[in-house]
Amino acid sequence: MKGVVLSGESAQHVGHITQQGWRRERKCRKCQKCLQVLRMKGGIGEESYANNSNIQKGYQNRSMPLLEQAVLELCCTTLPTEYITIADLGCGSGPNTLYAVSEIMSIIHKRCCQLSQSSPEFGVFLNDLPWNDFNTVFKSLPAFHEKMKKQNGEEFGPLYIGGVSGSFYGRLFPSRSLNFVYSSTSLQWLSQVPPELNDRANKEIVNKGKIYISKTSSPAVIKAYVTQFQRDFSLFLKSRAEEIIPGGRMVLSFRGRRLADPSPDESCLLWDLLAQAFQDLVLEGLVVEEKLDSYNTPYYEPYTEEIRAEIEKEGSFTLDRLVSTAMPWDGVNGGKKCDRVGTAQQMAKAMRAVQESMIQSHFGAEIMDPLFERFVNIMVANTKEVEHVSVVLSMVRKS
Ligand SMILES: C[S@@+](CC[C@H](N)C(=O)[O-])C[C@H]1O[C@@H](n2cnc3c(N)ncnc32)[C@H](O)[C@@H]1O
Repeated sequence: MKGVVLSGESAQHVGHITQQGWRRERKCRKCQKCLQVLRMKGGIGEESYANNSNIQKGYQNRSMPLLEQAVLELCCTTLPTEYITIADLGCGSGPNTLYAVSEIMSIIHKRCCQLSQSSPEFGVFLNDLPWNDFNTVFKSLPAFHEKMKKQNGEEFGPLYIGGVSGSFYGRLFPSRSLNFVYSSTSLQWLSQVPPELNDRANKEIVNKGKIYISKTSSPAVIKAYVTQFQRDFSLFLKSRAEEIIPGGRMVLSFRGRRLADPSPDESCLLWDLLAQAFQDLVLEGLVVEEKLDSYNTPYYEPYTEEIRAEIEKEGSFTLDRLVSTAMPWDGVNGGKKCDRVGTAQQMAKAMRAVQESMIQSHFGAEIMDPLFERFVNIMVANTKEVEHVSVVLSMVRKS
């Protein structure tokens, strides 16, 4: 199973999501077809997600205390056992991809040593959308196997790693096959732009000049985003409820809000600044205004209470802990000291590595450089500095 991309059931499901979701084709007012595709920039080059994911590494680090506690609790109820299966959903590609799963396995192995038990076999499933750069991930696996043996000793494992391509908003694994599920900085991505926002006839839900929720967004726009989050998150929970064995655990970390206000600066500032850069391109005639008005991002930062409500409504999991954590404005620099310009440039690279595929497919490749140049200038001129907030949840599958 080492390094195998699974297909079958999950691939069929992807086909469905592909049409309805990420690769959703929709008509703009000018009847141009737009294709939205979320894909982190692959490879290991200067512009790649792998080289521009410091902030996501920071979110992973902040989820570690809850992760460690959840794994130790899983050990209490599961060891001794012959094998343990772990899935990382929305694993991406780069140094963050194997970080959490390596921590999970090391904690379990260490606990086995303390209990004088032999290490279980580990089955690790790395999931992401089909167009994720799994090739780069697979190329890193031989070195990862070596590292795990070196770090944990010859008694560790054996370890089997597979890639599972498909959307986590649907079934990915056989029933009751997983002991532990982890996901970091992925669940803020919705399965699609809320379809209500494509209703050009209804002026109330045209998100004028914006690309995400903003202080000027109408209540109808906000409702469309909340409703899409509720649909997606409940489907995510339902799917995992089938796949995780009773007593199994799930730790999720994703961008979220600690405030009930749907448009606090800490959620919306960067989106507003990027929208300003788009508006500049409209004024300069490089982007058609209607094109901007018809572009919205399939993204939502839920309020902690919205998350709690969905878990309770779905009913299959006990929410053990939920905490919100915050990273400083310059967390994107990965601990390096940078001036305002350096931080703005780093932020632009990080956002471009994540959003380029979606923006490019709607507006064309030629606007990418001018857009992100203006975005850097706008960030430098803006004196607000907000924290980057994420929410970490630890859950147990009810018996
Ligand atoms: C910001 S990256 C995070 C990657 C990695 N977990 C990390 O911490 O660096 C978000 C990842 O979630 C994946 N993703 C988004 N929606 C998804 C979905 N519905 N199903 C599976 N993966 C998804 C994206 O393709 C992307 O690789």
